[in-house]
Amino acid sequence: MEITVTAIKADIGGVGGHLAPSKAVLSCVAETVDRQGRGMIIDHFIGHTGDDIAILLTHDRDVGNDDVHRLAWDAFTAGTAVAKKQGLYGAGQDLLKDAFSGNIRGLGPAVAEMNFDERENEPFLMFTADKTEPGAYNLPLYLAFADPMYNPGLLLSPAVGQGFTFRVMDVEYTKGDRMIELSTPEDAYDLASLLRDNGRFVVESIRSRADGEQAVSCCTTRLRNIAGKYVGKDDPVMLVRTQKTFPATGEVLAPFEIGHLVAGFMRGSHTGPLMPVKAGTGVSFFDGPPIVCCLAFSLQNGKLTEPIDPFDHPYWDWVRHNVARKAHDIRAQGFSGAAMLPYSDLEYGGITERMERLEQQFQCR
Ligand code: 13P
Ligand code: 13P
Ligand code: MG
Ligand code: MG
Repeated sequence: MEITVTAIKADIGGVGGHLAPSKAVLSCVAETVDRQGRGMIIDHFIGHTGDDIAILLTHDRDVGNDDVHRLAWDAFTAGTAVAKKQGLYGAGQDLLKDAFSGNIRGLGPAVAEMNFDERENEPFLMFTADKTEPGAYNLPLYLAFADPMYNPGLLLSPAVGQGFTFRVMDVEYTKGDRMIELSTPEDAYDLASLLRDNGRFVVESIRSRADGEQAVSCCTTRLRNIAGKYVGKDDPVMLVRTQKTFPATGEVLAPFEIGHLVAGFMRGSHTGPLMPVKAGTGVSFFDGPPIVCCLAFSLQNGKLTEPIDPFDHPYWDWVRHNVARKAHDIRAQGFSGAAMLPYSDLEYGGITERMERLEQQFQCR
């Protein structure tokens, strides 16, 4: 059976700052999806990560479907009205356009979706991150799909060992979707050369070379490219199908123990470690640290099981402890050097104005 899984995520306002959505906003989004989605979608799940709300939908209408995207847009619009009424901070933050225009891509919310022939058993993961950018998934995806140090399946499973094809987008290019396809293992060094630059090159999808099936869909939205100025970080959502010809669930999760340094954190303008957290976790320290949640599902005829939270486990408590230490270490140097993003990536115009003023004050001795 052909099934589409669509994950759409938006920040429509936070209680007490950029921390977490209110219960009223969450239930308004859930009620709207439940009511308006009847007869259109097969199943749904609503959750939040930091101040972002994720809507997960299953249906049979393929990717980029107008009605399915409109459903998410309407749910976020209804939620925004509640957020405004409650005085939430940044109400409607990620809804960058006034009206829906056929596809939610380019309007602000982050989208990841895949259409596939459902396997006999269909395990998949939804990753949602807050206070970071889409390139935050580059390293974990490279390690899970192309490095036998993290994915022993590349050595042990003949299907997984045939490698994967990565489709990568140049997200700095604004005139269209500038794409490249690279296949591992033979293109591994070329791929790493692109993926080192999380702010510019972002993995959009990954396919198995054994059967051509899609394993990964990752959002590539850059809010700045839509709004022309800083309006919040591009907190990304990602879907990953696992097992059989794909990496095992544990192989996909393993690289997240690194807590690698990503762009985001306070005012979207700093470097901080990506902390794997339990579902429903808000943000706190320095509007961060950057966080990532994972929910695991199984699918049968488009029906979702209840989610399992793989980061809700004693092993990840130890990881979080280490990542917190890493966050503390980089925060100890405040605005200096690598702790704050370079000018080109700074999300605030204020410092540019300051630098322009100082330029005038410089004198050559
Ligand atoms: P499969 O044999 O179903 O791919 O499972 C392997 C596995 O999960 C080992 O971690
Ligand atoms: P969000 O994009 O999650 O709203 O974060 C914005 C911010 O500036 C946090 O300090
Ligand atoms: Mg916010
Ligand atoms: Mg956010």
